[in-house]
Amino acid sequence: MAKLWGGRFTKETNKLVEEFTASISFDQKLALEDIEGSLAHVKMLGETEIIPIEDVKLIIEGLLKLRSKIESGEMEYSVEHEDIHMNIEKQLIELIGPAGGKLHTGRSRNDQVATDMHLYLNRKTKELIGLVKAVQEAILEQAKDNVETIIPGYTHLQRAQPVSFAHHLLAYFWMFQRDKERLKDSMKRVNWSPLGAGALAGTTFPIDRERSAELLGFDTVYPNSMDAVSDRDFIVEFLSVGSLVMTHISRLSEELVIWSSQEFQFIELDDSFCTGSSIMPQKKNPDVPELLRAKTGRVYGSLIGLLTVLKGLPLAYNKDMQEDKEGMFDTVDTLEGCLNLLAPMIETMTVRKDAMQKAVNQDFSNATDIADYLVTKGVAFRDAHEIIGKIVLYALQEKKFLLDLEMEEFKQFSPLFENDIYTVLSPDRVVGARESYGGTSPSQVRKQIQLAEEEVVL
Ligand code: ARG
Repeated sequence: MAKLWGGRFTKETNKLVEEFTASISFDQKLALEDIEGSLAHVKMLGETEIIPIEDVKLIIEGLLKLRSKIESGEMEYSVEHEDIHMNIEKQLIELIGPAGGKLHTGRSRNDQVATDMHLYLNRKTKELIGLVKAVQEAILEQAKDNVETIIPGYTHLQRAQPVSFAHHLLAYFWMFQRDKERLKDSMKRVNWSPLGAGALAGTTFPIDRERSAELLGFDTVYPNSMDAVSDRDFIVEFLSVGSLVMTHISRLSEELVIWSSQEFQFIELDDSFCTGSSIMPQKKNPDVPELLRAKTGRVYGSLIGLLTVLKGLPLAYNKDMQEDKEGMFDTVDTLEGCLNLLAPMIETMTVRKDAMQKAVNQDFSNATDIADYLVTKGVAFRDAHEIIGKIVLYALQEKKFLLDLEMEEFKQFSPLFENDIYTVLSPDRVVGARESYGGTSPSQVRKQIQLAEEEVVL
């Protein structure tokens, strides 16, 4: 089968070279975008009378037939035609005859592939925003059920101060909210049309780039043809936003792994989201959050991979850029897979309020509140800190928690202690007292949930 660019050549392409340079095995994912781009291009060519309207009609009919073949999975691709663009063009010419050869007027594969990538990411980014939202909704539902559920809050993975479990979960809600905003913002740059930039310098035909951009739903066109064909920033941006999404998924997954351990027992993942061990009958492993955590690696890898490919490339198109695809497709698939699992896993997990309650009564995470108690009685915070540090040391030696100390034991450290210290020290009071904006008290958390419900739709 003759190559579309065979004219200048006297020898067949080496088979290894053919396989090495071909991208059809992976860029066939762009088949529908390629048809969409061609439909817009040829309509514009007809409207500007660059090619006769009869040919435009034939080409559109042919492209629509090929589109049905792609949709039904009957389309066949060959490595000899290297990539999705030439596979489709070749089949179009076979299908409708010489008129098919006019489709590529005023266009190059360089602006064509860039257009396909923009269209693809536009569609996928929108879908991903919906998937992030579903995770946020699952978080919100669990948060609503757990405003007054108290768990130890940690810093350095050491018990710090008790917090509402809803508050802890909602921290992830806001991470995902920012991710959604980043995805939306990135679409501003995805929505630029490279079509009509030609190979690099524009074209001699009186094309209408605004029109083809409009037909494709782009907001604007690249003002510089060389930038249009060589820009892959929008893909880097997608991979970098994707990396952050994975960072957040990974952090939350790590918490789920820890919380579901025998040591914590704060949550139980639904049986349908866990797997067993082939040797230890008692095991119920959190494989799903572990894999979610691990999948982060390949997304970071794709980001670093593409940045490295682009670094030092001269203008304009270079074949190196074909390496932008697999990492991007893999990242889209990874994000879809992870987000689709995370939402139902959060929805179906059981929160073990009893275990959490038990945990918060067995630590020193109310120590800051005794310091604050002395401060309200006129002691400087730094001095109060010193006094409470001594009380904690004493309690540790006595193998007691702060609430177990007798009044006279408190009095040994400061005469300012009164009986009300026992109410101040209870975890409910400790949490409830954190009424500052964005704090963990139930009333603040309820306000936060209200705000989250307003924002989740955005
Ligand atoms: N398959 C190529 C890619 O993905 C399409 C563009 C080829 N352009 C060229 N001048 N060889 O980058």
